[in-house]
Order: sequence, then structure tokens, then C-alpha cells
Amino acid sequence: MAKILTGVQSTGTPHLGNLLGAIVPSIEMANKSSEESYFFIANLHSLTQIKNPEILEKNTFSTAAAWLSFGLDTNKSCFFRQSDVSEVTELAWYLSCFFPYQRLTLAHSFKDKSDNLKDINAGLFSYPMLMAADILLYDANIVPVGKDQLQHLEMTRDVASRFNNLMGDTLVIPEPKLQEDSQYIIGTNGEKMSKSKNNTIDIFLSDQELKKQIMRIQTQSLSVEDKKDPKECNVFKIYSIIAAPDKTEKLKKSYISGGLGYGEAKEILFNEIIEKFQKERDLYNSLNTNIDKVESVLSDGAKKAREQAQIVLKRVRSKIGF
Ligand code: TRP
Repeated sequence: MAKILTGVQSTGTPHLGNLLGAIVPSIEMANKSSEESYFFIANLHSLTQIKNPEILEKNTFSTAAAWLSFGLDTNKSCFFRQSDVSEVTELAWYLSCFFPYQRLTLAHSFKDKSDNLKDINAGLFSYPMLMAADILLYDANIVPVGKDQLQHLEMTRDVASRFNNLMGDTLVIPEPKLQEDSQYIIGTNGEKMSKSKNNTIDIFLSDQELKKQIMRIQTQSLSVEDKKDPKECNVFKIYSIIAAPDKTEKLKKSYISGGLGYGEAKEILFNEIIEKFQKERDLYNSLNTNIDKVESVLSDGAKKAREQAQIVLKRVRSKIGF
């Protein structure tokens, strides 16, 4: 059976796009798999961009609370903080010594980030080697990732093969599993939902704040009586991803026949979100006020992860001659 692993950057509380595009499918995959899966919060990677300890910690907890509230089964999955398994930084070093500098200079994500960020540190440059170590340290077979991470997966496979070719079979070559394509979640302006585009819907906000975000969804300027094309409407598009098919069909009819204003449509979407995610929102809020519980889940996860990490690291060290 295949061992599933993925890392999540903790740049804030996950929004609806993160949840439906990545978190929910990963949890479903893990719960279906007969092998233990590995999920971790990539806070060492976040350090390339965030230097504020309180923010780093807060983001880690809210990301963990989001995964847990969506039903990640921590008996079956190993859920931990990347920084709790320091073995990963050791492996990252070894891997860097087996990977050509030139190949790293070709990473799209480094180019994109170095065009946009002020702090272009060396960590940002060697980011793909740490990510390769994240994956190879646990003998992972399947790595669910978004399209933007596919090149990193290619580098992971590449560095593992180079290591194996030079030192003999040691590392398991992982396969990417592309996410996000089946569930393309649009944001309030109709573009792909993304924190950097400031168009997110954050279901863990209070009712009032969440409502404000929903009310911001961009629509055409048509009057209440006008007949509307649901395919052209951002409110409808988001609704149809969340609501059951019969509800979506009903809303579609109201759009086509006219008489439904955008304000009312937004109200319907808001109520649907509240109803659909009530359990998760409650759980999230209770975890957020019970940091000790989250902390204990993450440290148990780290313990299990380290055991596996040490096995692989030992294998690598002995091949290198250490
Ligand atoms: N770089 C990934 C992202 O930004 C996060 C990540 C870190 C990751 N390590 C990983 C994803 C290992 C998969 C496997 O989304």
C-alpha cells in the first residue's frame, strides 16, 4: 500500500479554497488508506518569509485546528510540526550535496518569490531541498500537491535518483498526486481563491465577519427582476460547490426566472456555509481555545514521525559513510 505524505505551509488560517482544494481531499485519502499517512505543518518553510515568533506559532495552531476540525484521524495519521523533527534539516543538507546548484536556480517558485519579496534569503533558495527531505525522510510514495508544487516534486524525484545512483538504492522515489484541478475554488472576485489576491472566504471567522466577506463577492449590475445567467455569477459558482445538487438546481431556477437579487443570493450562500460547516466551525473554535489539546496531538505526532525519520536517516548516513 502507498504511504501518503503532504506538508502545508502555515501562512494563516486556511480559507475555503485551501480546505476544499487540498485539506479535505487529503483527509479523505488518508482516511481511506490502510497505511499510516504523514501530514505536517511546514513551519520551517514558513520561516523563509515570517520572522515573527508569535505569528509563526499562531499560524501553526490555527492550521492544525483547521485540519483537526475537518476530521483528520490522528490515530491513523501522523500529524506533526516540521520543526519538531530536526532530522529533516540533516537530510536536507545531505541532499543539497547531491543536487546541482544550477538546477536550483531554475526553480519557478524561487524566481516568483524573489521578484516579489524584499527578503530574498538563502533559505528561500534551498527551499526545494528541505521539501525533498520532508518527503524522502518518511519513504513516502504519494504526495498530494497543488500545481505550483509539481516542480518541487520533480526535484525531489531527481535528487533521490541521483543519491540512489551514486550511493546505491536508499531512497524511495515518490509520485505527486495533483490536487486543486478537480475543485477549482474561486474567490470573491471570481479569480482563483488565494490569500495573496485578498479574495478569500474564511469560514472560521465570526458570523458577522464572514457575512462581510460574502457580501463583497463581485456580481454583475442587474436589478432584482432581471433574469440572470447562473454560469456568469460568482455567488452561484461558489454555492454550487458547497450545496447539495437539488439545492443548487433550485437556486439555478431562481436565477433563470428572475426576481432574485444578488443580495438575497449572497444571503442564501452565507446561510449554506454556516449550515454546512457548523460542526467544523464549532470544533475549530473549541480547539482554538484549547491550545493544550492541539499541542498534545502535535507532540504525539512528532514522536511517531521521529521514529520513522531516524530509520531512514540511519540508512542514509551509513551509505554516506557517517
Ligand atoms: N512547499 C509546499 C507548499 O508551499 C509545502 C510543503 C513543504 C510540502 N514540504 C512539503 C508539500 C512536502 C508536500 C510535501 O505548499
